[in-house]
Amino acid sequence: MTLTDDRLVIRRPDEHLLVIRKPDDWHVHLRDGEMLGHVVNATARQFARAIVMPNLKPPVTTTAAGAAYRDRILAAVDPALDFTPLITCYLTDGIAGDELARGHGEGVFTAAKLYPAHATTNSAHGVTDVAQIRDALETMQRIGMPLLIHGEVTDSHVDIFDREAVFIERTLIGLVRDYPELKIVFEHITTAEAVAFVEASGANVAATITPHHLAINRNAMFEGGIRPHLYCLPVLKREKHQLALRKAATSGNPKFFLGTDSAPHVASTKETACGCAGCYNAPFALESYAKTFDEEGALDRLEGFASDFGPDFYGLPRNTGSVTLERTAVTVPERIGDVVPFHAGETLGWRFAGA
Ligand code: DOR
Ligand code: ZN
Repeated sequence: MTLTDDRLVIRRPDEHLLVIRKPDDWHVHLRDGEMLGHVVNATARQFARAIVMPNLKPPVTTTAAGAAYRDRILAAVDPALDFTPLITCYLTDGIAGDELARGHGEGVFTAAKLYPAHATTNSAHGVTDVAQIRDALETMQRIGMPLLIHGEVTDSHVDIFDREAVFIERTLIGLVRDYPELKIVFEHITTAEAVAFVEASGANVAATITPHHLAINRNAMFEGGIRPHLYCLPVLKREKHQLALRKAATSGNPKFFLGTDSAPHVASTKETACGCAGCYNAPFALESYAKTFDEEGALDRLEGFASDFGPDFYGLPRNTGSVTLERTAVTVPERIGDVVPFHAGETLGWRFAGA
């Protein structure tokens, strides 16, 4: 197998070790309070940096709130780990471009997140129409601050499995046309339509892909009964979309990079009559991605996806350290505290062997 980087990817002759540049997670929910303390080190041990989502209660909408949240995250990180949280601002109708520019200029906000109002967890304060955030978008385009998009329409008449594809038609095409220089990350894409849209767009448009949308499709949500821990948003789609995502992620196209969308909820809030959306994949994130890339015969492309293309798109330096993955059986626990992790009870073929 060819090496992606003579310096950093060392495939031993026995092919049991994979060493790649230290990766980053370009989309994660670290939560706050007790849950923050419970989950943050799972991310901090595998990733050097992470784009942290702002859908807290209340959402992170000001520079002061962003700086305070960053401090709470850093206080919860194991001091032995070298981890930098990158904070995002939650966009609301009428939000001032000046506040975003200030937060960006002060190094608090790396990016801003567009949640269509009521699209997902804690999105009630989200944007009702992109016309309501023109000032923010003009400012972000001017200062080079990336816009991160949860790309689903919220129209209840649109089938839930079509909401991403319809968002492209109704919102994204116009947004990209009206703000041609704006850096856009189409987050956690789930459809062949999203892959095609990103591929056909300019270099200012990229996408993140989660471990779960690569590993499974909507059948898994109903295998032998309803599986609430596999319910996330955007919801898992049919197999042809999963295959399109697997092809995109392992293609080596720098427009597609790693974003786990790890979204922990305590088990009791998922195993209930109206369960929360989100998969907690952080504890075995790299192992899960490695399994997919291995199955696709693309281990030599994991480093680009996990460690190179994200920082290149954001205009940040690539990390200098490395992580090692070992080809050996690892069983994912059924529960980690009160949270059921993605792949619970399964045995994966790769082990995270440290940074
Ligand atoms: O499944 C999801 N969970 N999708 C989202 O967009 C939000 C996230 C959460 O915060 O729980
Ligand atoms: Zn998310």
